Amino acid sequence: MKDLSTKYLGLTLRNPIIAASSGLTASVKSIKTLEKNGASAVVLKSLFEEEILSETHYEIKRAEEDSMIYSELSETLDYIDLHIKEDRLNEYLNLIREAKKEVLIPVIASINCISYEDWTHFTSRIEEAGADALELNIFLNPADFDNKEFEKVYFTIIEKVTQIVQIPVSIKISKYFTRLGLTARALSETGIKGMVLFNRFYTPDIDIEKMEMGQGKLYSNPEESLDTLRWIAILSSKVQCDLSASTGIHTGNDVIKMLLAGARTVQIASTLYRNGPDHIVRMLGQIEDWMEKKGFNSVNQFIGKVNAEYKDNPAAFERMQFMKNFSRIG
Ligand SMILES: Cc1cc2nc3c(=O)[nH]c(=O)nc-3n(C[C@H](O)[C@H](O)[C@H](O)COP(=O)(O)O)c2cc1C
Repeated sequence: MKDLSTKYLGLTLRNPIIAASSGLTASVKSIKTLEKNGASAVVLKSLFEEEILSETHYEIKRAEEDSMIYSELSETLDYIDLHIKEDRLNEYLNLIREAKKEVLIPVIASINCISYEDWTHFTSRIEEAGADALELNIFLNPADFDNKEFEKVYFTIIEKVTQIVQIPVSIKISKYFTRLGLTARALSETGIKGMVLFNRFYTPDIDIEKMEMGQGKLYSNPEESLDTLRWIAILSSKVQCDLSASTGIHTGNDVIKMLLAGARTVQIASTLYRNGPDHIVRMLGQIEDWMEKKGFNSVNQFIGKVNAEYKDNPAAFERMQFMKNFSRIG
């Protein structure tokens, strides 16, 4: 028996494969199935900032219409929070509570956010409901030409949320940053415990028959993992938090590569949709077979083993690889 356990966000996980936030983590039933098939933790389907704000705005509007209530209304968000319309938010809190009752693996809540508006107070309810950690999917769109604050929004959101909750906070980011290396390092120094690289943007395609924009691919393919692999290798020795790899990880071999590059965990969705939850069993088997072949007894023995070239000067290393292929030098 190999020791596949790893530490992520201060939590001890039985292996590095986490079920990523998706429709597959939106119900207790399917979370139980994922646990049964070996997932070491689940990131719940995201609650959207807009869902929190729309409930809050609804309450403010209702209070304003009712001058009696309004006159008594302390304007603190705590008050609004108490009076938030039940439905969607309670449903989410119940999902956390029920999942915590039914499974032993850690349950990581997820909020998809685009601003530091007054949704952050809700994170205390998530903590109270029993979530083991909170992942913030900060989803700023690089195609937004009006947002001049881009990077600053990330820092402000993190600052607000880490002041509210005690549970570990991680962020899930996209690769579209100015100076990704420097920004990721600075983000890692804010008190977050983990960073998920990368969120996958929905990419449209063009239908040349109709000559119009069509739907891109909902699920990733394995080639997409290479960009993630590159950045895990570049960042793993530079950042102050754990890294979790996401996008394009479909097999046990893909997991091994991410660990060698320095990730502590991976988060998978597309391969679970394509191959079913029992694919995790096969992936774990591949990892164990490889460990047996290479003489490793525990995952910790090889996490980060192949990021050495990147350690000192990633830019110089990449320049050298580039020149080897595209010039006569080297
Ligand atoms: C159908 C579907 C729903 C998803 N929903 C969410 C979500 O609510 N929140 C989130 O952070 N990521 C969401 N994701 C992104 C995944 O968590 C994951 O980061 C991404 O799909 C890349 O991993 P993969 O290549 O294994 O699919 C979703 C992905 C899929 C395919």
